Amino acid sequence: RPQLEPVPPIPALHASFGFSIFAFVASLYLVPALGPTFVKANLKGKDLLKIYNTPIPESIGLVCSSIYIITLLLFIPFAFSDSLSKFAHAQHPQKTQEGISVPEFPHQQLAVYLSSLLSLLIATLLGFLDDVFDIRWRHKLPIPIIASIPLLMVYYAERGNTHVVVPLPFRFLAGTLVNLGPLYYIYMSLLSTFCTNSINILAGINGSEVSQALIIAISVILNDLLYLPWSFGFRVPLHLLGSKAEVDVGGVWHAGMAYGSKELVERHLFSLYFMLPLVAVCSGFMYHNWYPARVFPGDTLCYVTGMAFAVVGIQAHFSKTLLLFFLPQIFNFILSCPQLFGLVPCPRHRVPRFDPDTNLLHPSKALFLKPPSRLSYLVLRVLATLRLTDLTVHPTNGMILEATNLTILNFFLLRFGPMNEKRLVQVLMCAQVSGSLLAFFIRYGLAGLLYDG
Ligand code: UD1
Ligand code: MG
Repeated sequence: RPQLEPVPPIPALHASFGFSIFAFVASLYLVPALGPTFVKANLKGKDLLKIYNTPIPESIGLVCSSIYIITLLLFIPFAFSDSLSKFAHAQHPQKTQEGISVPEFPHQQLAVYLSSLLSLLIATLLGFLDDVFDIRWRHKLPIPIIASIPLLMVYYAERGNTHVVVPLPFRFLAGTLVNLGPLYYIYMSLLSTFCTNSINILAGINGSEVSQALIIAISVILNDLLYLPWSFGFRVPLHLLGSKAEVDVGGVWHAGMAYGSKELVERHLFSLYFMLPLVAVCSGFMYHNWYPARVFPGDTLCYVTGMAFAVVGIQAHFSKTLLLFFLPQIFNFILSCPQLFGLVPCPRHRVPRFDPDTNLLHPSKALFLKPPSRLSYLVLRVLATLRLTDLTVHPTNGMILEATNLTILNFFLLRFGPMNEKRLVQVLMCAQVSGSLLAFFIRYGLAGLLYDG
C-alpha cells in the first residue's frame, strides 16, 4: 500500500498560481483589445442565434492559447527550480569509482514538459488552420493523433504502464491484470483526437465551449489535489462514501504500476502546472464570451483546451479518470455518430433554431432530401423511442422527412422544452458539473467495489 511521504512545501506551485493570475488578467484585458484586429483580418463570424448582424471576432482562442503557452514557457525555470538550486549549490563534484558524479538533472521530467508544449503548439496550429480554412473532417481527425506521438514516446521512455486492472467480477476470465501493450498506445492517441474534437462538436451557443473546458479543468485540479500530501482533509469524505480510495489513492486502477509516492505527487503537480493557467485564461475569456457574446472562441480554443486535457491525462497517467470528466461529451459524441458517419444528413450547423419573436431556442432539424436507408431508418426509430430525437414523418406513407439534429443541446430542448440561450448554456454547465460529481463517485466510490486495493 503506497504511503504518501511528507514532502517539503512546493514553491513552484505558488509560482504557478502567481503566473495564472497574470494569465487571467492578460486574457481579460487582451481579448477585447485584440478583437477588432481579428475582425480586420476577416476572422469574424455571425452570431447565429441573434437578430443582429454585427460581426463578432472569431478564433479568439488564439489569444488565449498564446497567453497560455507563453505562461507555460515562462514557468519552465520555476517548474525545475528545485533541481536548478541543487545544481547551483552542488558541493564539489565527488569522485566515485565510475568517475565524477554531479547531481542528476531530471531530464525525463523536462522531456515530459517539452513534449507537452509541442503537442499544445500543434493543437493551436491545427485549430487556427481549421478556423481559417474550415478543414474537412477526414483531414483533421488524424492530426491530433500525430500530435500525440511526442507524448507517447515520452510515456514509453519512462516505461509507462500499459496494464489495466480487471474488475473483480471478470477476474475468473482474465486474471487480475491484462497487458494491453500497443493497444494502450492506440487508445492514448485516440484520446487526444477525442478530447479535441468532442469539445468542438458540443458548440454553437454563447459560452458553451469555454464553460466545458473550465469545468473539466477545475475537476482535474480537484482530482490532483487529492494526491498532494497536504490534502488529507479531502480524504475523509471519500472514506465516508465507503470508498477504499482513501487508503490507496491512485492504486485502484493502476495497481501493479511501479510508482513511488513521490512520483505520484510529481505527476499530479505537473498536471496542476498545466491546469491552473488553463483555468485562468478560460475564466478571463469566458467573461467576454458569456451571453450575449462579444467574442467567439473558434476551433482554436476547442483544440487547445482538448489537447491540454489529453496531455495531462497521458503524462500524469490518469487518462481513464479524465475520460470520466467527459461524460456529456461522450454522450454528445455517441448521439452524433449517425450524423458524423453519414447515416443521417449533417447540416453545416447543428445549433438549435432561434425564434426571434420569443427569443427562445427550439431543436433544429436535419432534412432528408432522399428517403433514409434501412439502417438509418432503424437507428432513427430507436433514437426516437429513447426520446433522443423527434421525427417528422409523412402522414400517409410513414417516411421520415425530418429528424432533430442529434446533439445534446437539442436533446435538452426536447426534454425541457424551448428556452433562451443563456438558460441552455446554464443547463449544459449543470450537466457538466453533475457529470464531474458522478465521475468522482465512480472513480472513488464505485471503483472501490469493483477493484480491490
Ligand atoms: C461545430 C458543429 C456544428 C456547430 C458549430 C458551432 C458538428 C459536427 N459541428 O462545427 O454543428 O454548428 O460547431 O460552433 O457538430 N457560433 C454562434 N454562437 C456561438 C459560437 C459559434 O453562432 O456561441 C457560430 C458562429 O457563426 C461562428 C460559427 O458558429 O462563426 C463557428 O463554427 P465552427 O467552429 O467553424 O463550426 P465547426 O466547429 O466546424
Ligand atoms: Mg468549432
